[in-house]
Amino acid sequence: MTTLSHHTVPERAEDADPSAPPVLAVRDVRISDRTADREIVHGVSFDLTPGRAVGIVGESGSGKTLTCRAVLGILPPHFEITGGSVEIAGTDIATLTPRQWTALRGATISAVFQDPASYLNPSIRVGAQIAEVIRVKKGLKRRAARHRAVELLRAVRLRDPELVYGQYTYELSGGMLQRVLIAAAIAAEPRVLIADEATTALDVTVQAEILDLLAELRERAGLALVVVSHDLAVVAQVCDEVLVMREGVVVEHGPTRSVLYDPRHAYTRLLVAEHEQYGLEKFLTPKETA
Ligand SMILES: Nc1ncnc2c1ncn2[C@@H]1O[C@H](COP(=O)(O)OP(=O)(O)OP(=O)(O)O)[C@@H](O)[C@H]1O
Ligand SMILES: [Mg+2]
Repeated sequence: MTTLSHHTVPERAEDADPSAPPVLAVRDVRISDRTADREIVHGVSFDLTPGRAVGIVGESGSGKTLTCRAVLGILPPHFEITGGSVEIAGTDIATLTPRQWTALRGATISAVFQDPASYLNPSIRVGAQIAEVIRVKKGLKRRAARHRAVELLRAVRLRDPELVYGQYTYELSGGMLQRVLIAAAIAAEPRVLIADEATTALDVTVQAEILDLLAELRERAGLALVVVSHDLAVVAQVCDEVLVMREGVVVEHGPTRSVLYDPRHAYTRLLVAEHEQYGLEKFLTPKETA
């Protein structure tokens, strides 16, 4: 369950080695809109080592999704990285060929965005789409891939995973599709998972179960996470450090504890205050329960 007490803010230094080489290194990344000849993201930097999680929060349009897409090499048509660098497992993405990108996506770095329907093929059974990822990326035989796909559907807390395996996108609800997408994203056991509002559409209980699943993957497999969420409670529960973005600028960046409990920047204070308004003070006020 998502408990929102002060004590749930993780101190993960002990179960991840911050001195390990980063599996994702984002250095002063700038993103521009070529058609408007305008820089939209003005320099984002963070390092992600195995088993760690970094959160990105900030107002709508501040550049969170563009930053994620830049890291994955899938910026919208007229956008480009115009400064800085991104390294995935030690490789500068600027040097990657399309073929190398294909090998990397899913297997090393993977992502879940909102709007799951647009990422799934409506004419292929959803389970078969996950099995295909496993077959291609992990080299499993058809039967084993199918078995693994059903396991993944169960892991993302879909009831009756065998049934869901054989269904088409139009037969599933938005929340179910979102879970199918999460299953597909972790199917090839990536080292980095980018979750851009990935659990926002899910109800609280399912969201908590998915977050538990991701926590387990971090501990067991050293999965590293980039979590974009407007929900500070999710970020507080999951992330070791947080970046606060506003109008393409990172206004604050630090350990989750200090950013959310002792914000330095006026905008971060505003964000935190907004959350308090919606009844999240129980997560922001340390509650000493016996
Ligand atoms: N495909 C696109 N075409 C044109 N402009 C875009 C596109 N994607 C993003 N932008 C613009 O780039 C800026 C940053 O957008 P981005 O999607 O990164 O914001 P965000 O922080 O993810 O916001 P939200 O919280 O609403 O998801 C916005 O001003 C947006 O209008
Ligand atoms: Mg976005």
